[in-house]
Amino acid sequence: METTDQSTRILAIETSCDETAAAVIANGVTILSNVVASQTEIHARYGGVFPEVASRRHVEVIHPVVEEAMRVAHLGFGDLDCVAVTRGPGLVGSLLVGVNMAKGLAVARNLPLLGINHIEGHIYSLWLTEEAPHIRFPVLTLVVSGGHTELYLMTDHGQYRLLGATLDDAAGEAFDKVGRLLGLPFPGGPAIDAASDKGNPAAFRFPRAVMDQGYDFSFSGLKTAVVRQVSQYHSTAAMPTADLAASFQSAVVDALVSKTAAAAAATGATAVHMAGGVSANRALRAAMRARLALPVRVPPLALCTDNAAMIGAAAHFHFIRGRRDSLDLDVVPSLQLV
Ligand code: KG4
Ligand code: ZN
Repeated sequence: METTDQSTRILAIETSCDETAAAVIANGVTILSNVVASQTEIHARYGGVFPEVASRRHVEVIHPVVEEAMRVAHLGFGDLDCVAVTRGPGLVGSLLVGVNMAKGLAVARNLPLLGINHIEGHIYSLWLTEEAPHIRFPVLTLVVSGGHTELYLMTDHGQYRLLGATLDDAAGEAFDKVGRLLGLPFPGGPAIDAASDKGNPAAFRFPRAVMDQGYDFSFSGLKTAVVRQVSQYHSTAAMPTADLAASFQSAVVDALVSKTAAAAAATGATAVHMAGGVSANRALRAAMRARLALPVRVPPLALCTDNAAMIGAAAHFHFIRGRRDSLDLDVVPSLQLV
């Protein structure tokens, strides 16, 4: 695999949502530091990410987070080859904090600047695993996060074919909404994952969000079915929470796995990669591995949810191909990968 044809040390910054993160990555594959200041506890009070609060918190912690990433990496700014930053998709006010920080460093330290797509960052989290030397294209990648549910065929570095996407809610969004319905703490994904341990996934037969053709997903019908079931109980205390959680989770997992298996069979992919917050889900990992004959690769938990290490990995592969962005770089809240 061509990762060592040019050695790089890249400082990466990620502030697209509610994590303020900075990392230093060597050669696209080695984590020298990976600092994440999570705001999850702050937003849990509101039951979701509060954009205004998120951007203000990013402003407060971005400097110490970047300094900590440099300190842990034992590097000075003069040792860096580039500053990379998430430019979208994400919350505009949050993205702006990271992009302005990166621009300031690029000017002050005379460093090249690269704006990276957050989704591409999630995809490159797989290059930060010990599996990286085994990656061969084409790879089928399922990106499942709070804002995205997309299936890509990656044919080379930076080359993506979008095979399918959600037509309504993202998988993580469905987890978060159903978590709220069940009275579980925010974010709903990890809470449902944990609650499902004691539940029966066959207790309720929720609709499988499988469309007849193609590789698109839909989760709004499933969410409505959970709403209807939940409305039969007088309070969250009266609900069979574990059974509801496990049954909902099993419906989401079935939909994700069946579409991915069909796409894998049709495309000649050498492996299936999963990335994004929902790829932390234990039932999803187990079902994907059980259903697919191909290698199924997932990042370690810390690299599933938002972090800057993955942004640095993606940036390396752009940098060694000669890409440089201008200081006019702007945020693009609805940035598309393809
Ligand atoms: O990738 P991420 O950190 O942020 C976005 O870019 O959206 O993903 C966050 C999402 C949330 O919806 C959260 O509930 C979900 O990932 N999530 C999980 C699990 N851990 C995080 N969903 C299901 N099971 C999990 N274990
Ligand atoms: Zn993300």
